[in-house]
Amino acid sequence: MSLLVTGIGQLVTNDPTPRPGMSPLGVFGLPAAEARLGTMADAALIVSGRHIVWSGPRQAAPPADRSMDLGGAAVVPGFVDSHTHLVFAGDRAVEFEARMTGSPYTGGGISVTVEATRQASDEALRAGLRSLRDEAAAQGTTTMEIKSGYGLEVGQEARLLRLAREVTEETTYLGAHVVPGGVQRDVYVESVCGPMLAACAPHARWADVFCEPHSPVAFDADEARAILVAAAQAGLGLRVHGNQLGHGPGVQLAVELGAASVDHCTFVTDEDIEALAATAPMSQDDGRPAAEGSDRGTVATLLPGVEYSTRMPYPDSQRFLEAGAVVALATDCNPGTCYSSSMPWVISLAVRELGMSAAEAVWSATRGGALALRRQDVGWLGPGSLAHLCVLDAPDYRHLAYRPGVPLARGLVLTD
Ligand code: NIG
Ligand code: FE
Repeated sequence: MSLLVTGIGQLVTNDPTPRPGMSPLGVFGLPAAEARLGTMADAALIVSGRHIVWSGPRQAAPPADRSMDLGGAAVVPGFVDSHTHLVFAGDRAVEFEARMTGSPYTGGGISVTVEATRQASDEALRAGLRSLRDEAAAQGTTTMEIKSGYGLEVGQEARLLRLAREVTEETTYLGAHVVPGGVQRDVYVESVCGPMLAACAPHARWADVFCEPHSPVAFDADEARAILVAAAQAGLGLRVHGNQLGHGPGVQLAVELGAASVDHCTFVTDEDIEALAATAPMSQDDGRPAAEGSDRGTVATLLPGVEYSTRMPYPDSQRFLEAGAVVALATDCNPGTCYSSSMPWVISLAVRELGMSAAEAVWSATRGGALALRRQDVGWLGPGSLAHLCVLDAPDYRHLAYRPGVPLARGLVLTD
């Protein structure tokens, strides 16, 4: 069976390989970031199974068994939200309100969510998780990473990962979110590296550590290294929460240990940026989806919703991009530092506050997120990719930044 998708007024492929019918727009005379989007006007796609098998201009499309017309919409790859904490109970609206009037964020509120989450039934957690997943999909997200981290006991962390696995393959063991109250720090680190890891590894693809010397409850470089090394030995890929509250060792540790991503990167030195650029999984001028090397290297994942919700200064994306680091954008959706699942909102913040062009922000929210998860099958649209679309109620991808807060985007996962 095959499905022909037409009525795509503008198609962002993230595949700059020149193809017949790709408008000159996609190749010549444009800044690199725009050329990298591989944009086509009046395009069509053919889907077979779960994959795209053909893309090109509408007039050149071969016949298919059935068809679907998108009415002239702009289509971008479905968003890849590579950083979320969606399995939790309760909310912290009061803490948010206090921050808006000057209280600092230190990570202390995490324990409030841990208490509520431990008390919640599987059904309640599942309902909250699915509702947030659906909320994200309604705004164009088609791939999500989901972390544990609000259980902080062996059985609880494994439970959160089991629930997360019900909705995504991209599950992350974050037993090392904070040291829970009443537990000695070294005893907890031993558990995170030992019995908790053993219980969680079967349900996780990744492990993450909140490496942050500026929080009294997070982990220092030595603790984080021990946890990440143990996780890698257990077969998990690595990610790091680093450099969020002040300068710290997170970026250097992530690069040293070959983590797929270091997330936040709010306070970084030029040396940190050089280290990220030296390990970048692809050159900024080469957006090709199948670049060799995409199974290694460390992406810098920026989370501007966190700076918004904690009133912290925003990082300057151009420091990373000009140096040649690969940048992803993600929501960090969680009840403390950013209770939003909206990738379009993150894109608009990135353009307004991180200094990205719309083209850079859309690429980072799609292909950048895919690289942060070391995925070759998502974050782009063309022969070989999954048919994960984000359809915009707009003629041009720039509207994602131009029309903030307007529900333009919806996720569309196609099969024939
Ligand atoms: O990514 N930095 C640590 N963890 C989360 C916040 C979690 C919370 O405050 O509940 C973050 O910002
Ligand atoms: Fe986070």
